[in-house]
Amino acid sequence: MQFTTTDATATAIETDCLVAGLGEAGLSGPLSDIDKASDGLLSRLHESGDLPQKASQTVLLHAVPGIKAARLLVVGLGKAEKLDGAAFDKAVKAAGKALRQSRATSAHCLLADHEVTDRASDWKVRQAGIALAYADYVYSATKKPKDDAPPATDTVSFPAGEGVEQQLGLAEAIAAGVQRARDLADLPPNICTPAYLAEIAEKMAAEHDGLEVEILEQEAMEKLEMNALLAVAVGSANRPRLIRLSWKGGKDSDAPLAMVGKGVTFDTGGISIKPRDLMEQMKFDMGGAAATIGAMEAVARLKLPMNIEGVVAAVENMPDGKAYRPGDVITAMNGKTIEVHNTDAEGRMILADALTWTERLNPDTTVDLATLTGACVVALGHHASAVMTQDDELAEELLSAGQRSADRTWRLPLWDDYQEQIDSPFADMKNIGGMPAGSITAGCFLSRFAEGQRWAHIDIAGAAWQWGKPESGTGRPVGMLVDWMVDRAGGWDVLG
Ligand code: BES
Ligand code: MN
Ligand code: ZN
Repeated sequence: MQFTTTDATATAIETDCLVAGLGEAGLSGPLSDIDKASDGLLSRLHESGDLPQKASQTVLLHAVPGIKAARLLVVGLGKAEKLDGAAFDKAVKAAGKALRQSRATSAHCLLADHEVTDRASDWKVRQAGIALAYADYVYSATKKPKDDAPPATDTVSFPAGEGVEQQLGLAEAIAAGVQRARDLADLPPNICTPAYLAEIAEKMAAEHDGLEVEILEQEAMEKLEMNALLAVAVGSANRPRLIRLSWKGGKDSDAPLAMVGKGVTFDTGGISIKPRDLMEQMKFDMGGAAATIGAMEAVARLKLPMNIEGVVAAVENMPDGKAYRPGDVITAMNGKTIEVHNTDAEGRMILADALTWTERLNPDTTVDLATLTGACVVALGHHASAVMTQDDELAEELLSAGQRSADRTWRLPLWDDYQEQIDSPFADMKNIGGMPAGSITAGCFLSRFAEGQRWAHIDIAGAAWQWGKPESGTGRPVGMLVDWMVDRAGGWDVLG
């Protein structure tokens, strides 16, 4: 999807589809103009209840008299006082979905002109672009669309205005990062292997000046004694990779921000095997890797004036004659010993060594991203990523980035009180902490591999993918991560 701007008015613009919002207060702005041009058609439809009544409902009209657009898509925006950033994002996505169904290949978007309670105009334009591109996504890697399937919306224009073009450029960059993450998450585990993730990172580095890649294979990891990561990897015929994408947008001497992604390309649970029902969902267990790679794609496209490291630990968790087993004690790269109680708690094993390795890059701040615990889905559902950190200031940075980007995060405590749940008589820790606070004890485990670092753990087990209609990756939390990094770089104004 490409974005343009135009000075044409709502009634004069020639496009396949005009997209306009209708709040509870009734017809206003461009919809009033169209109403006049159509001799009161919209007023009559509004009166008879045939225009959207509720937020995010859509109605598609054809051949509206008095306008040049072939279609008019009206999306409900609800009560003015309830139209905040998150509600706006939801409404634009609903409009985008209906737009794709409409068969229009060009559109003109009027939604950013509406008052949104907590947002400025730059944000509205940028977010509308991101959300429309999001809604236009259809998976096609292993299922070709039918000949009569609705086509993609190629171009969307916005009313010209100060900064509009620039915001749309930023939206395209971020949307590309989100799309990258979704593509990777949606791919089946027989295609999206650790080697495949490495290949994608290499391709990205070849495409973008300033983006560099380093890949560690098994032998290199053995030399570094990344035994916790390798313990998980050893049961699979798909060899592991440690992938590092580096964006050099700052001064050489600037400490980078680092992201570390869990890239379990398939999680059977290993010897502690998962039940057969819904096991196919564990192809999304590389959602943290997908978000890391997607965020690096956006960073490179935005040419962020900052140094960023994206590290991915890519493995497959399989049961096998060589697989690690409950009872094993593994010495991690940082010398700490781990008693394995459940081979299905594999994400924290691989992240442990990935965090130790990342510390050597001397980051200013490290955030890890992982579909780490089912307990996180129980706690927050699919609506928020869980942030865990002992650093209140960093928590605030990540919570407000989530709020700003409509890619929300919520904090869970990482108090020392929980640490004793992972005590073990045979090792420095065990890899599970029992039923209570399962997401937090996973965070406690990781905290032991990030000591002395400015670090946060982000559990994206719910946010990274959605159930049904269709089941797919969401590309989250690329939006939040990009917002956070842009903020750390000095804000949107520093981008060209
Ligand atoms: N990848 C899963 C977590 C997961 C579950 C993500 C459901 C998304 C949806 C993770 O590796 C796992 O299996 N975690 C276990 C931990 C347990 C053994 C302590 C879990 O959550 O059951
Ligand atoms: Mn698991
Ligand atoms: Zn897992």
